[in-house]
Amino acid sequence: MNMTAQTLNPEVLGSLLDRLGHEAGRFRFEVAPNPCVGAAVLAAGEVVGMGYHETYGGPHAEIQALAVARASGVPQADWDTIAVTLEPCSTTGKTPPCVKAILDSGIQNVVVSQLDPNPSHEGRGLRMLEDAGLTVRVMDGICRLEDVSPHFLRWVANERVRRPRPWMIAKWAQTMTGQMTPPADVGEGRWISGQESLMEVQLLRAKVDALVTGVGTVLADNPRLSVRPPGRTEHPPARIILDSWLRTPTDARLFEEPAEGESAGPVIIMCLPGSNAVRWRALEQAGARIVEIRGEDRKRLRLLDVQSWLAREGHSRVLLETGPTLLRRYLESGFVDQVRMITGNVRGGEGPSLADWIQEAKLKQPMMRESGSDSVMEAFLGLEF
Ligand SMILES: NC(=O)c1ccc[n+]([C@@H]2O[C@H](COP(=O)([O-])OP(=O)(O)OC[C@H]3O[C@@H](n4cnc5c(N)ncnc54)[C@H](OP(=O)(O)O)[C@@H]3O)[C@@H](O)[C@H]2O)c1
Repeated sequence: MNMTAQTLNPEVLGSLLDRLGHEAGRFRFEVAPNPCVGAAVLAAGEVVGMGYHETYGGPHAEIQALAVARASGVPQADWDTIAVTLEPCSTTGKTPPCVKAILDSGIQNVVVSQLDPNPSHEGRGLRMLEDAGLTVRVMDGICRLEDVSPHFLRWVANERVRRPRPWMIAKWAQTMTGQMTPPADVGEGRWISGQESLMEVQLLRAKVDALVTGVGTVLADNPRLSVRPPGRTEHPPARIILDSWLRTPTDARLFEEPAEGESAGPVIIMCLPGSNAVRWRALEQAGARIVEIRGEDRKRLRLLDVQSWLAREGHSRVLLETGPTLLRRYLESGFVDQVRMITGNVRGGEGPSLADWIQEAKLKQPMMRESGSDSVMEAFLGLEF
């Protein structure tokens, strides 16, 4: 029997889409602000390949599902349907459009559970498929974005599109009392988390466009903020230092050549207008680009302007890796969309604790896991769903 999107049992399709959506949600912290999407290729009602959007900037679910179908050994001529939890993309972003991949596959039926809510895409991909003669069916109400990818609705919300700012991920390590600096006799007074979590940070750095830190961290830790394996080193993120008065030392390790096998993005120092011209020139000579940002109560950089600048420069996914002063400011500003909180197996510590903020925070879709001896909590912030 020739199965088509029209003849396939709606209950079977519905539960397949539900399952795809549920599985896709596992990758929510890896793909945000992109939506969680799952796809399946079917041949005569049997699933021959399933795939998910698993990593920001990585292949979309449709591409993954088509690859698995290809590896299944079921002849491509037998593939009749692709089910996707969100309308396939029709434009080239970080990857080529999925609509083209579907057309190239020869599949004749497309089932989706939801249109892309972005007004400039809504329905466009489906129209292109229909215009090419494919049968398209939308199963509204299954696998709703509100349930599967509420973060994506925040990303495409009008207010965010009108005034763009990056998707901000705050990552920090803390002791069991919520302090971000360990006791002096632990981890050389710097390291709270274990090797596994530190490796994960390299992976995360490789998947963001920029890193933001405060000058307090530069002065205390002298970090390089480079990307090292297992992180992919091809596109290291820009390193942005919020440094109102240009206190960054010209011999900071940020300016060193990355070591063999590592990579590091450009150093950009943000300061208040009218900062010391001599320091400005010296830091430029050391290799930094200096950017003036308006001040808030003439003391600190205005985070709204920092965020707008980042967006203008094309930094869509940004990682905040900073000390307690700037971190708290960011968390209270509402500009943080996602958190990764690593609690090390360390008692006590130095400096202010974030414990009070954590107790009050409205964490959405939290996920707890272990990483070596650390416990890791990831969650979204500021979602209304
Ligand atoms: N556990 C972790 O994950 C982690 C990560 C990083 C650092 N640390 C630790 O944190 C400690 C340093 O903490 P910190 O609080 O001094 O460093 P920080 O938060 O990295 O930097 C704070 C500085 O950023 C500058 N800044 C510019 N604009 C700002 C704004 N709008 N709001 C707030 N600050 C702004 C301010 O200096 P100006 O006024 O001069 O601009 C401020 O003093 C070190 O012990 C380090 O080891 C821990």
